[in-house]
Amino acid sequence: MELRSIELELPDPAGAADFLTGIWGLGAVESDDADRRYLRGSGDQPYLVGLYRADHTLVRSVTFLADEAELAAVAARAAAHDIAVTQVASDDPGAGEGLLVTLPDGAVIRVLAGATRVAPVVGVPDRAVRLTHVVLNAVDAEVTARFAEDILGFKVSDRTKGMVFVRCNRSHHSIAFARAGFASLNHIAFEMTDIDAVMRGIGRLRDVGMVPAWGPGRHGPGANVFAYFIAPFGAVVEFSTAVEVVGDDYPTGEPDDWTWPPNRIDQWGISGKDMAGLGEAERTFRFRRA
Ligand SMILES: [Fe+2]
Repeated sequence: MELRSIELELPDPAGAADFLTGIWGLGAVESDDADRRYLRGSGDQPYLVGLYRADHTLVRSVTFLADEAELAAVAARAAAHDIAVTQVASDDPGAGEGLLVTLPDGAVIRVLAGATRVAPVVGVPDRAVRLTHVVLNAVDAEVTARFAEDILGFKVSDRTKGMVFVRCNRSHHSIAFARAGFASLNHIAFEMTDIDAVMRGIGRLRDVGMVPAWGPGRHGPGANVFAYFIAPFGAVVEFSTAVEVVGDDYPTGEPDDWTWPPNRIDQWGISGKDMAGLGEAERTFRFRRA
């Protein structure tokens, strides 16, 4: 499977879209519905972020693409575990049909088959290519990760003290569950072409007075480069690049495999972390059923 997009409900989709196109660097997708905005990257997905006007802030869904066989396997595993799923036809760009699967904390995973792709955009080196991962705060990250393995067919790549990293293809993680004790969106990570694109992104945000809430740095699990920002619309967003590609033989790491020396929480150790700001922003987007 493949992570495609995240769908967010919020009071001011236009304001969020202005930030995500103007400063963050995504492209706007034509829409004749004033209450919906779609933002795309430079890759072949019709959009990466869908924004829907509402009087609340919620994660509507996180969307993965599957083929028909993978979709049937999800349905079969859900039936075998007595998990109810909902058939769905997407009315977002790319369309497609599939299933809504609700994680134990209420987050909705939408698995679509038959969704169309678009021609990549060339000559925009500062535009994110695709989503690389979404991290969700979990009441019990182990329970949620087990569900993702059992029902969605995903695989845990690594466990740390703070998170469970889960893959759905050869990318080290496309989703992760943070051991938060509450349920919400932790952050959305956009894949940039290379480290220079991440650094120029940091520069663009610096131009408007925004500094990273954490980063730049390079993570342990996945070894991806990162820079996190708190977007004006409340979500934590990340420029990322160079996440590790793993095979079926990747040994699942445990927390004791991922410890840091004193004064380090990433491989570089050059940037501090705004724990308070991030902790607050990570509570902005809840799930409908949470
Ligand atoms: Fe991340």
